[in-house]
Amino acid sequence: MNEDQDELIPPGPLQEGGQIVDHRNGREVAIRVRGLRTQFGDQIVHDHLDFDVFRGEVCGLVGGSGSGKSVLLRTIIGLNYPRAGTIEILGTNTHGLHANALTRLQRRSGVLFQDGALFSSLTVAENIMVPVREHAGLDEETLWEVAALKVAIAGLPADAACKTPSELSGGMRKRAALARALALDPELLFLDEPTAGLDPIGAGHFDELVRSLQKSLGLTVLMVTHDLDSLMAICDRIAVLLDKRVVVGTMDELLKYDHPWVKEYFNGPRGRAARKEQAAVDGK
Ligand SMILES: Nc1ncnc2c1ncn2[C@@H]1O[C@H](COP(=O)(O)OP(=O)(O)OP(=O)(O)O)[C@@H](O)[C@H]1O
Ligand SMILES: [Mg+2]
Repeated sequence: MNEDQDELIPPGPLQEGGQIVDHRNGREVAIRVRGLRTQFGDQIVHDHLDFDVFRGEVCGLVGGSGSGKSVLLRTIIGLNYPRAGTIEILGTNTHGLHANALTRLQRRSGVLFQDGALFSSLTVAENIMVPVREHAGLDEETLWEVAALKVAIAGLPADAACKTPSELSGGMRKRAALARALALDPELLFLDEPTAGLDPIGAGHFDELVRSLQKSLGLTVLMVTHDLDSLMAICDRIAVLLDKRVVVGTMDELLKYDHPWVKEYFNGPRGRAARKEQAAVDGK
């Protein structure tokens, strides 16, 4: 629990909520953040932040280093308590939610943390089994079957299941972390810099994997990334953390957005190169 938290959140309702629909476009909202303020000591990271992620989309999240992307992810998944505002996940307001209901809700999300966060002393299969063991109450044989399935889904060779993270390449570790994030068949997938440190080809393959999993499993994906190629290739919309708030739109909309950071990021040399490359892939 965060030391900066002003007050304990009391146990709240046991039941989960219904569906939230954006009346402007009729789309179902999977994650709704309103009036969010996050703060560490005197440092305000987010203020009056509003943000919606639609069900079934891949939404990218960008912003300068230290702008609060990881903190926003951690706050949405309930690892960091906001000072103000509301967060609704799959129709349920998480504020004051009873611990059991919160656990049920968290079970519907998979997370790939920025540093991978695999247990270094456990094999890949054992890492995948950790959340399954906690939540699903399955016997050992079934646990192994689930782990083997997730290893395959994440595009790892079967023998990777018995290796520890230090015995894998960086790209394989990302896939192992993805396999663990998918362990409980989540509806929401949170990825924090999943392709950081990978070479462009490895990153491209990882992007394709995320896109195909999103389609085949019907996932809603919120992905923090600095990788412009990823943004172009797989994101339906892009959220930009600017001045403690979020601006969200399609790539075309953001290209017209008048803010120095956005202009430099999307219209700078790297942004232009990534767009050219994507246009070639799309055959435009
Ligand atoms: N637990 C914490 N306690 C105090 N300050 C924190 C904590 N977590 C994050 N911060 C601060 O909040 C700010 C936002 O951090 P965050 O990790 O969200 O940045 P980021 O946008 O993810 O950056 P990067 O692109 O480098 O990963 C930083 O100034 C960071 O130092
Ligand atoms: Mg970060």
